[in-house]
Amino acid sequence: MTIMTDLFDNENSERAELVRLRHALQDANYRYYVLNDPQLTDREFDMQLKRLQELEARYPDLVTPDSPTQKVGSDLSGRTNGFEQVAHRYPMLSLANTYNREEIEDWVRRLPDGVEIVAELKYDGLSISLHYENGRLVRALTRGDGVRGDDVLRNIMTIRSVPTYIPALPAYYEIRGEVLLPWQAFERLNTERAANEDPLFANPRNAASGTLKLLDPAEVARRGLTCFLYHVLGDNISGLTHTERLEQARHWGFPVSEHIRVCHSVDEVMDFIAHWNTARKELPVATDGVVLKVNSLAQQQQLGFTAKTPRWAIAYKFPAEKQLTVLRQITYQVGRTGVITPVANLDPVQLSGTMVQRATLHNEDFVRQLDIHEGDRVWVEKGGEIIPKITGKESGSSVSSEPYRFPTVCPECGTPLVRVEGEAAWRCPNENGCPPQQKGKIEHFVSRKAMNIDGIGEETVDMLWQKHLLTNIADLYDLKVQDLSGLEGMGLRSAERIIDGIEASKQVPWERVLFAIGIRMVGETTAKKIARRFRSLQELQWASMEQLTAVEDVGEQIAANIVRYFADSDNQQLLIRLQQAGLQMEAPEEQKTVQRHELDGMSVVISGVFARHSRDEYKQLIEQHGGKNTGSISKKTSFVLAGDNMGPEKRRKAEQLGIRLVGEDEFLEMINLSQNN
Ligand code: IVH
Repeated sequence: MTIMTDLFDNENSERAELVRLRHALQDANYRYYVLNDPQLTDREFDMQLKRLQELEARYPDLVTPDSPTQKVGSDLSGRTNGFEQVAHRYPMLSLANTYNREEIEDWVRRLPDGVEIVAELKYDGLSISLHYENGRLVRALTRGDGVRGDDVLRNIMTIRSVPTYIPALPAYYEIRGEVLLPWQAFERLNTERAANEDPLFANPRNAASGTLKLLDPAEVARRGLTCFLYHVLGDNISGLTHTERLEQARHWGFPVSEHIRVCHSVDEVMDFIAHWNTARKELPVATDGVVLKVNSLAQQQQLGFTAKTPRWAIAYKFPAEKQLTVLRQITYQVGRTGVITPVANLDPVQLSGTMVQRATLHNEDFVRQLDIHEGDRVWVEKGGEIIPKITGKESGSSVSSEPYRFPTVCPECGTPLVRVEGEAAWRCPNENGCPPQQKGKIEHFVSRKAMNIDGIGEETVDMLWQKHLLTNIADLYDLKVQDLSGLEGMGLRSAERIIDGIEASKQVPWERVLFAIGIRMVGETTAKKIARRFRSLQELQWASMEQLTAVEDVGEQIAANIVRYFADSDNQQLLIRLQQAGLQMEAPEEQKTVQRHELDGMSVVISGVFARHSRDEYKQLIEQHGGKNTGSISKKTSFVLAGDNMGPEKRRKAEQLGIRLVGEDEFLEMINLSQNN
């Protein structure tokens, strides 16, 4: 019996893991392709994707068509992004990744004997498909979701090496490749952005992607994109092999890379990889691996495709570049939320095109686990992020065996540090008195997604702080043009621009004000959900833990942070000042929907198909009546709002936990919305 229960628990937890992974990877795709703000390294993504594939093989009933295993990530930025979305003539797929010789050997074993393999560099930009009709470039599509892409022709036209008219081309010709921002252009762009206090791009790939989606071709031209093309498609194209087609394209004037080798064995492939693993550092553009392709087009056709990738091609990813250097000193940085991060100050080393002197050591546990001390020789690595990280130390390089001691007080304000149970981070609890936390709060408050006050960034906040003109967010609304103009690097124009921006911020809606004031763990989306339920500051201030946790995405911890925030008298003072300054502390009248309480504290799962309202409408109704809509059934579920064709899995789970199924009519009665009302 126990064994049975264990098996059952194990199955349940794997099923939950599958769903969690699917959502996490969908989110990662969105951040990578649309926001250009990757949170996972490619390797982390691939590892998690592999795990998801394993789980989906075990639980095929949980495979959904939108799973990241079934479709490529999407860079489509929505209907209003200013580009026309066009269907691809041939789907734009991605490649399966490999990381070592064994995985390449596995792939080669599945190919016909004696096959020719073309090794090419894998350029790290974003893919583009160029369409030529009667010799003329007529469209340039991004990958999009693999089926449809954004037509960014006007921006592609700014790349000088891309031909716009070649009379010799067949009537329809399509060639695909990679758009890139060269290292030099990337560095220049980031230097400019730093000077303007704009957020920096983490790597050239993100910069290229951000650039290609700009609506101003003149600005695109200024940034200096470039391009390599590596895949010819289309009708009536001569050439029996991939290399013949590439040569033909090069001959016509297309930018095709010279660094290509036809290989006849895995040894030859590994040679190419070993060579470029080092030589790539001298290239003007970023590469992240090598692509291997079957050369014969007939063999390519025989091998065909899986749902997501061709069987005739595969990518090998270079290991992240790392360097050994000496760790001179560990210092401590205090973040906006008071988290103390140990920082490694290093002997400078060259890494992926830039000089690195500082790298994160994450937290106390990390430093202890790696047994790192000042004076050790350590490995430093750059992932997809701006900040490099320490990943290990050279064995036997330790100069000290002293146990590592994390500071006990804040290096900035001297307040004793606290460690929240279950968290790796130490924090300075002096939220309203610790300078970097205060400055960080102001920077967050003025940032684009919060109050969007133009002209103020980190450096300006720092300067105003030094001059005692700004000690908290409410001080912003006391600033006058004459306070600012005349400060270092600030003319009358910029001073006026800032004051205008501050004035305009008084119109920013309540949901963004709530995000801007910086309650711990209340991000943009959570703030929106809270503001939809509590339509004014006054309502929110008096909310109980129970009412708060009834809001979707708000758990005990966030609710406790909100309650704690409003209980603090300094925060109360700030809010009074902000209100007096005229900020929007409530939702406009016309948007107010009456909040009802029939479902207060209830957690409702929706399943199946409905006749009277859509699932989204039901979700809204649940929230408007004080309930919380959750995705999966658990002991905490109050009831399931069940429509037709409810999933068998959900039904079984509900029965097993004794959770009631409520039909849509009964539900509408519960919230007093049955048809008579
Ligand atoms: S061939 C059917 N060749 O890597 C697949 N792709 O991870 C055709 N990439 O989406 C792609 N360099 O954006 C190919 N020499 C190269 C490449 C390359 C970079 C990119 C491309 C693709 C991604 C797959």
